[in-house]
Amino acid sequence: MKFTLNVDHVATLRNARGEQQPDPVTFALMAEQFGVDGIVVHLREDRRHVNERDVRLMRELVTTKLDLEMAAVDEIIEIARDIQPELATLVPEKRQELTTEGGLNVIDNIEQIKDAIIRLHEKDILVSLFVEPSIEQIDAAYGIDADMIEIHTGNYANAETEDDMFIELDRIKLAVEHAKKLGLGVNAGHGLNYNNISDFLEVEGIDEISIGQAVIARSIFVGLEKAITEMRDLIK
Ligand code: PXP
Repeated sequence: MKFTLNVDHVATLRNARGEQQPDPVTFALMAEQFGVDGIVVHLREDRRHVNERDVRLMRELVTTKLDLEMAAVDEIIEIARDIQPELATLVPEKRQELTTEGGLNVIDNIEQIKDAIIRLHEKDILVSLFVEPSIEQIDAAYGIDADMIEIHTGNYANAETEDDMFIELDRIKLAVEHAKKLGLGVNAGHGLNYNNISDFLEVEGIDEISIGQAVIARSIFVGLEKAITEMRDLIK
């Protein structure tokens, strides 16, 4: 299972003072040196964390894999087509949210998402759809030619009881199995951390997990190399 690092929060910290440091591009390159399998950034319409300069530089310098999280809107689709990340992950985006709150409703937004996939495919960009572990949403993603899905793991991560956690884990297992049968690639992420990752690893068939907050937060205490190595060791 591969481990990709979302570095948005480094940009958030930089933006807090409107200055240069900490630079998310430098951070991403160091993370690669310390063994992550890819870099993830979410270029939001409000640019609250990474901006175009960050994404363009990362495109030039990241040698593992760049996964651009984005809303299926014209402005960002055009930037993605120009930058050509290896993967574009389409996510729902709301101005007021603190972080992405759930998966895409592919079924209700099918035309908009299908159009985004077509435009990204024209530039040979693979497209992943961030969805809940729902068979119906996965079928919809498959029906409009998504290359992969990313399963939203937030409900697993935020489960208040052990029972709820295992119920959600079972939903995820069924969803992954279904997606794999259809031939879709399967990533997963949101809210995964050093405590909840071990139970999550019971789920078989996931290609990549995408983690941001937990690893960036830990790196402040123990340094980036150790934060990455510890997570890698847990994933192994
Ligand atoms: N995957 C997606 C689609 C996300 O939006 C995020 C958060 O930016 C993550 C993964 C990583 O979540 P976290 O920061 O909670 O690890």
